[in-house]
Amino acid sequence: MSDIAYHIAISNKVEFEDLDFDTARKHGITDQEIETLKYFADIESQTVYYFLEVAKLQVVRDPELLTFLTMWNYEEYFHSYALTRFMEECGVPVESATDRSTKVRAGARFKAKFEDFAQGLIAKSAPKSFIGLWMFWGALQECLTTQAYEELANQTKNPVLQELCRRIAKQERRHFAYYWSASKRRLEGRPNTQKFVRFIANQFYAPVGGGVKTDEEGARLVAKLFPQERIFEVMSYIEKKMALLPGMAGLDCCTGWAAKIQPILPEETRARSMGERRDAQKKGADRAAA
Ligand SMILES: [Fe+2]
Ligand SMILES: [Fe+2]
Repeated sequence: MSDIAYHIAISNKVEFEDLDFDTARKHGITDQEIETLKYFADIESQTVYYFLEVAKLQVVRDPELLTFLTMWNYEEYFHSYALTRFMEECGVPVESATDRSTKVRAGARFKAKFEDFAQGLIAKSAPKSFIGLWMFWGALQECLTTQAYEELANQTKNPVLQELCRRIAKQERRHFAYYWSASKRRLEGRPNTQKFVRFIANQFYAPVGGGVKTDEEGARLVAKLFPQERIFEVMSYIEKKMALLPGMAGLDCCTGWAAKIQPILPEETRARSMGERRDAQKKGADRAAA
């Protein structure tokens, strides 16, 4: 079965109607979890705007790619919807997914708008490299998203939130797999695209959501979810997976980012020592190789 046929066969909206919300309410959610869920819901809700920006480019008018993007956008929309519903059921006052996404976008920072513009420019001048970059970037971000939902599932004491995060993580893993193999196809035998993608990753890597949150807000949230040296383990895991792609050997943009944000983090989330940091990186690399 081709990659796209596989996705068509199993694409669906994440199940949440069957969750036991009485149990969810009984266990409740912590302030930290509310903050994380709101951040996740905001980012998920922005997918439609990424979709709209990229879908209007001539270079994306490839039937297979449009098919995938349509399913991807649909699934991400329901991630935001399900998280919002979960918070509502737990008595957290929160706007609807659509209202939130419209507001977040209206407040999108100059950076997000500039990215849209730069994206259009690259797509016109170097369409093949652009698609390679889009796929690579998608894989990078989906890999982090998978890790983030799994982390929340492991951390929370609320069994219903745990289940919801696991279900979403399963779809995120599938998104990652698609983007990863699509970028492999588009990088293979194209040294210029490889160099270009590597350059952009090294210069601009930051976790998804950079355009809608300030860099500092985004960094602090990611570091709260992966505190101290744990962030180095996760970032090392991600970059090692990406380093298996053509022309990406030795990639270190993710751990580089984790190192760069250390000074702006509150003391309690900062990595404890260089030794701990190195051990964590090794652990991440071993996990990626397993
Ligand atoms: Fe998602
Ligand atoms: Fe995703």
